[in-house]
Amino acid sequence: MKLLFYDAKVYDKKSFDTELSKFPGVEIEYIEEDLNRRTAHIAEGFDAVCAFVSSDVGRETLDILSEKKVKTVLMRCAGFNNVDTEHAKELGITVKRVPAYSPEAVAEHAMALALAVNRRLYKAYNKVRENDFSLKGLRGVNFHGKTAGIVGTGKIGAAMCRICRGFGMKVIAYDVYENESLKEFVTYVTLEELLKTSDLISLHCPLTDDTYHMINIGSIRTMKDGVILVNTSRGALISTDELIEGIRLNKFLGVGLDVYEEEAGNVFEDRSDEILAHSTTSRLLSFPNVMITSHQGFYTMEALAAIAETTLQNLMDAENGAKTGNDV
Ligand code: NAI
Repeated sequence: MKLLFYDAKVYDKKSFDTELSKFPGVEIEYIEEDLNRRTAHIAEGFDAVCAFVSSDVGRETLDILSEKKVKTVLMRCAGFNNVDTEHAKELGITVKRVPAYSPEAVAEHAMALALAVNRRLYKAYNKVRENDFSLKGLRGVNFHGKTAGIVGTGKIGAAMCRICRGFGMKVIAYDVYENESLKEFVTYVTLEELLKTSDLISLHCPLTDDTYHMINIGSIRTMKDGVILVNTSRGALISTDELIEGIRLNKFLGVGLDVYEEEAGNVFEDRSDEILAHSTTSRLLSFPNVMITSHQGFYTMEALAAIAETTLQNLMDAENGAKTGNDV
């Protein structure tokens, strides 16, 4: 079975090559180009392609993959909002993903962002390097005794609930489906109530028509002054322009983002030598209470190994026509 691996990074090759020994018969070709309508034709002669969060697996891309007789799209991630799943079905292309590889990896990063913006660790690090040992601009708040509001209590949100409990926080949550296993220490409330009463809000729901721009200037105005907002889920859950408006209203003690609307062209690229034509990201970064990381929540050794193993198992299952919980 021949797999074309788009947007391959050194760490992808390492983790997939390590797992490959368990899957004899699978051959992987790694390429640097990401999957989109301009690069889909490269997949000619391959049984399957492997894509990621920034790939464009829309209608046109799928049409070309289908023409080239590609039967399977393997998403090496949990989210699949960048895949036209309906069209894939129409074309008979199987799409599989990795729904869970290490929920704790992402949840721990969400808490790391919350702590970093609260205690301004990025500032403190630079200040001390400059022999500036003053405490100006570094005052934070205790998390202990505060309220954490978790939006979306699936695998990652549940892990975040457990972490917040460990910090001695009161944990409230909103989800369209309540997670019974959390009810011992999590109180479910409406989204409105959560936004109004939380000191830390962390987003862990998928991007759908319902959740697009769920954080906008209207919802921001209902939040407590001095709230910390963290997004490790998908950028478009938050309207960036309206977040900037909210920051200017002094709503936030801190904002920690591992994902943001403009990230598609940036994710995992070194653009440090470029002059970016326009960038709301730079505008966001001009504020002292904002920290952005570039979609690294998943990036732990444990998660990478699990992603490689599940993706290759997905390929075998697709080849054998086996439907599993990983089908999109
Ligand atoms: P999951 O599917 O286990 O949980 C998602 C939860 O969101 C479910 O409980 C679902 O009922 C809930 N939900 C759906 N619609 C909702 C709505 N309208 N309002 C509130 N809750 C809603 O997914 P998992 O694994 O916990 O991942 C969550 C998100 O994290 C993914 O959608 C993905 O976008 C993102 N992610 C980010 C990574 C990173 O590196 N930063 C890595 C992996 C995932």
